[in-house]
Amino acid sequence: MKRIQLFEFEDFQWFPSTFRSTMTKIIIVLHKLIGTKEVVSNLLIKAKQKHPFSQVVDLGSGSGGIMPMAVTHLNTTKKEDVRLLLTDLHPNEQFIQYFNQHTTKEITYQKDALDATNLLKAPEGLKTMINSFHHMPPVTAKKILYTAQENKEPIMIYEMGENMVPALAWFLLLPISLPLMALSCMLFVPFVKPLNWKDLFFTWIIPVIPIFYAWDGQASGPRTYTFEDIQTLLPPTSEQYTWEIQPALKDNGKKLGYYIMGTPQ
Ligand SMILES: C[S@@+](CC[C@H](N)C(=O)[O-])C[C@H]1O[C@@H](n2cnc3c(N)ncnc32)[C@H](O)[C@@H]1O
Repeated sequence: MKRIQLFEFEDFQWFPSTFRSTMTKIIIVLHKLIGTKEVVSNLLIKAKQKHPFSQVVDLGSGSGGIMPMAVTHLNTTKKEDVRLLLTDLHPNEQFIQYFNQHTTKEITYQKDALDATNLLKAPEGLKTMINSFHHMPPVTAKKILYTAQENKEPIMIYEMGENMVPALAWFLLLPISLPLMALSCMLFVPFVKPLNWKDLFFTWIIPVIPIFYAWDGQASGPRTYTFEDIQTLLPPTSEQYTWEIQPALKDNGKKLGYYIMGTPQ
């Protein structure tokens, strides 16, 4: 397996939720910049054509990610009425309040923690994992895929990044890539929503968030499963369930990450 089991700070239970929330909010700024909304929205359309659903249950939502925008885009452009339930292993009170009180009623954030490994504890609907599958070690990742297939649960996993750089090159490039990543964190932070004083304080005044963000961002690359890795995780083929693993495309045909789509037949 090419994937390397590096650590990310945001996965540690002890990691302050203030830092985790700023970091996941910055990822949304990045999503907006590179255009993952249309990619994810197109994947939802594809998933719906294969297996109809009225609710998306997003696992590992963090601060919401791009999913609220993708579902809103789907509902407005395709005149759909899809609801979205955001969930996380570490749900943050700030986002629970934000989504449950300040956005449309179609989008809610589950108060109780939901471990993506316990797929069957999730309410009915299309299960999605956006940029969170690489957080799962192989045993857990395998369990998620097996549970989906065995229980005929539709699932759509999207990873924005890919694991293409050889491990040695990745390591040698760290002295350049880490400072660049930290700098991008400092530049993006004023654009996060909702913005609070802690986001700015721990990024600009006592700049600890850029350090954590830079490491987690860099560690995500080698942690991402390659197509070959995914083949080793999938259950044996079944006539009742199909898997599709493909590069994800923008409307202009440009590649932006990849997806794994599991569909009951
Ligand atoms: C990189 S963030 C992705 C957030 C969001 N989906 C996005 O695209 O911006 C990964 C999220 O996965 C969550 N996570 C990690 N392990 C998890 C698990 N076992 N079950 C559910 N969520 C998990 C983390 O708490 C974190 O919020």
